[in-house]
Amino acid sequence: MARKVGPDEQGWCVDVSGEPIVNKGLRNVCVDESKICFIDGSSGRLFYRGYRIEDLAKYSCFEETAYLLIYGKLPTREELNNFSDHLKEERELPDSAIRILKLIQKDTNPIEVLRTVVSFLGTIDPDKHDRSREGRHRKAIRLIAKIPTIIAYTYRIRNELELISPDPTLNHAENFLYMFHGEKPSSSSAKELDLALILYAEHENNASAFAAVVIASTLSDYYSAIVGGIGALRGFLHGYAIVEAMNQFDEIGTPDNVEKWFNEGILTGRRRLIGFGHRVYKTYDPRAKIFRECARKCAKENGGNIRKYYEIAKKLEDIALASKLTEKGIYTNVDYWSGIVFYSLGIPPAFYCTLFAMARVVGWTAHILEYIENNKIIRPRYYYKGEIEKKYIPIDERG
Ligand code: ACO
Repeated sequence: MARKVGPDEQGWCVDVSGEPIVNKGLRNVCVDESKICFIDGSSGRLFYRGYRIEDLAKYSCFEETAYLLIYGKLPTREELNNFSDHLKEERELPDSAIRILKLIQKDTNPIEVLRTVVSFLGTIDPDKHDRSREGRHRKAIRLIAKIPTIIAYTYRIRNELELISPDPTLNHAENFLYMFHGEKPSSSSAKELDLALILYAEHENNASAFAAVVIASTLSDYYSAIVGGIGALRGFLHGYAIVEAMNQFDEIGTPDNVEKWFNEGILTGRRRLIGFGHRVYKTYDPRAKIFRECARKCAKENGGNIRKYYEIAKKLEDIALASKLTEKGIYTNVDYWSGIVFYSLGIPPAFYCTLFAMARVVGWTAHILEYIENNKIIRPRYYYKGEIEKKYIPIDERG
């Protein structure tokens, strides 16, 4: 007799033959409905709240995109001004957080510093016990505003530079570069960072967003959820790939060495090409196309090391896209070119994962807020393959 599709007596979801359906890595599993982001993985299209990423990249700014993602609609001029002002008011870090930054060992990975200080901020947030919608929004704005300050101060403390107070006349991207470098950025640098923040702000149910939502679904606090998101981002299969892509270009060293490096490392299957491959995209990532063009411009305008990175990356990409990788749907992803853009902003590679977090905190927040409006604890199963009813043997009788 044919078995129904659905949970069996163990609660395992079974197929028509009665076999439990195991989706390793939760590939293709939908955990809920959402109105935040749509990835069309076969034709390489991406939409935030229905708007094409190319349009947001061209016409929007980080603050407006953040508003769109969190509140679900494009703001009016007045709403955008209020939101931007609110962010500006919340940029300062409390002295206690600065003391913690100074206490952390200087060789700690910047993304781990960020994770630690975000966790600390959760203990002193004035709304930490407020679970209302408004309380959650206030916490989110506070954290989105403070993350750039944490990153800039991490850099300045480890380089023994004086800390620069946030400047309320500057927008989010400009102010970050100002606090990081200690001087006002050119308008082209600020625009490049603003663009990068838009491109990195959100990406559906990726590992870090899911980690954050899993934590939020237990009705844990907002900061714990964000700390979980940062923790998931830190792996190089996810956000740390930006750093590893730059390390990969460094290892290759010169454009002349690309082909040999690719044939020996990637074609033999000994290692993975970082900045390539994606769970959802089976074609070129639309964000990577925008970053590629931006990296090309940076290389043309700046020359030097930026040009060298660009030439290595370009040659490597050409070879990879002409190889058998594309037969498996492995194409350039967002983390391949973005490091070259960040490098042209004078930011050291060790910080690139933190820049990703600085943008993605918006997407995490949007998903947390959307999910808990209609919450259900996230609690999937493992299909148990071990033994049961084993006889317990006292320790002295074990062979
Ligand atoms: N280089 C070489 N081969 C690859 C790559 C790659 N970058 N990515 C996947 N493959 C191969 C795998 O070896 C596997 O081959 P097989 O079927 O012969 O065993 C096949 O493609 C499928 O790979 P999976 O690991 O099953 O794909 P999955 O969807 O689980 O992984 C991931 C996606 C983690 C992004 C993967 O493509 C990868 O490791 N990429 C490199 C790291 C990277 O760039 N991460 C950033 C992703 S974007 C982001 O998170 C912002």
